[in-house]
Amino acid sequence: MPEPAATLTIGDLARRTGLSVSAIRFYEEKGLVEPHRTRGNQRRYLRADIRRLSFALIAQRLGFPLDHIAREMAKLPHGRAPTQEDWRRISGGFRQVLDARIATLERMRDRLDGCIGCGCLSLEKCQLANPEDRLGREGPGPRFVLD
Ligand code: FES
Repeated sequence: MPEPAATLTIGDLARRTGLSVSAIRFYEEKGLVEPHRTRGNQRRYLRADIRRLSFALIAQRLGFPLDHIAREMAKLPHGRAPTQEDWRRISGGFRQVLDARIATLERMRDRLDGCIGCGCLSLEKCQLANPEDRLGREGPGPRFVLD
């Protein structure tokens, strides 16, 4: 168990992260931080939890769902501060997802160039409406109903 001097109260953590106490409790429920309890049943957080919460906030800003963030962060060590190598491993997973998203967006942007001013959304020729004629490979006839 960490030394009391090396831990933070929930108020300390709120001040250091800019989060509200209720937001910290929410992240705790999601498993992003795991405080220990004092004999008086008060929460105490590691200083490393400042970085855990900051990382989660940045990942959310990058568009990652909280469940994904929680799943990845569960791979960090419990009860001690993660090392640089721990963080590098976690960041690598997020980077792969971001790289794939960026590649998809770049492809869509390039396809959009041909569609600006067109607006046909033709299933036969439009690369935005039907990329690489995916629907054509599923056979003839209607595949879905547009709302
Ligand atoms: S909108 Fe016409 S080709 Fe894409």
